[in-house]
Amino acid sequence: MLASKMITPALELRQLHKIFPLKGGMRSIFGANLESHIAVNNVSLCLKPKTVLGLVGESGSGKSTCGLMAMRLLEATQGQIFVNGQDVTNFDHAQLKPIRRQMQIIFQNSY
Ligand SMILES: Nc1ncnc2c1ncn2[C@@H]1O[C@H](COP(=O)(O)OP(=O)(O)OP(=O)(O)O)[C@@H](O)[C@H]1O
Ligand SMILES: [Mg+2]
Repeated sequence: MLASKMITPALELRQLHKIFPLKGGMRSIFGANLESHIAVNNVSLCLKPKTVLGLVGESGSGKSTCGLMAMRLLEATQGQIFVNGQDVTNFDHAQLKPIRRQMQIIFQNSY
């Protein structure tokens, strides 16, 4: 019998959340005062090495926010980020340096 081979994901996001505090609050359509905005709510995903993963969703659904958190360019409110099996969620700038050499972001409106 063949033993099943575990593949370490190139990237794994575990239960990521991002809540943006809103300065001075904001009024909802029902008139309630909103002091924060939940941009990403419990996102988990796994990217196998040498594969491509597309995030699809309407504008404002949190795709870019997920990407920025995966790159550690934006702090997650909650959740964990693994790169090649390594938990980089709380890595400092120096620790992130070699990790960032393996990542590349292409900004939407690069001009
Ligand atoms: N710095 C910020 N402060 C407050 N709210 C933010 C901030 N950045 C993003 N948001 C809000 O978080 C939500 C998710 O934004 P995000 O840019 O991740 O969406 P998106 O899916 O990438 O949209 P698009 O398809 O238009 O690129 C939106 O409601 C956006 O207004
Ligand atoms: Mg976007």
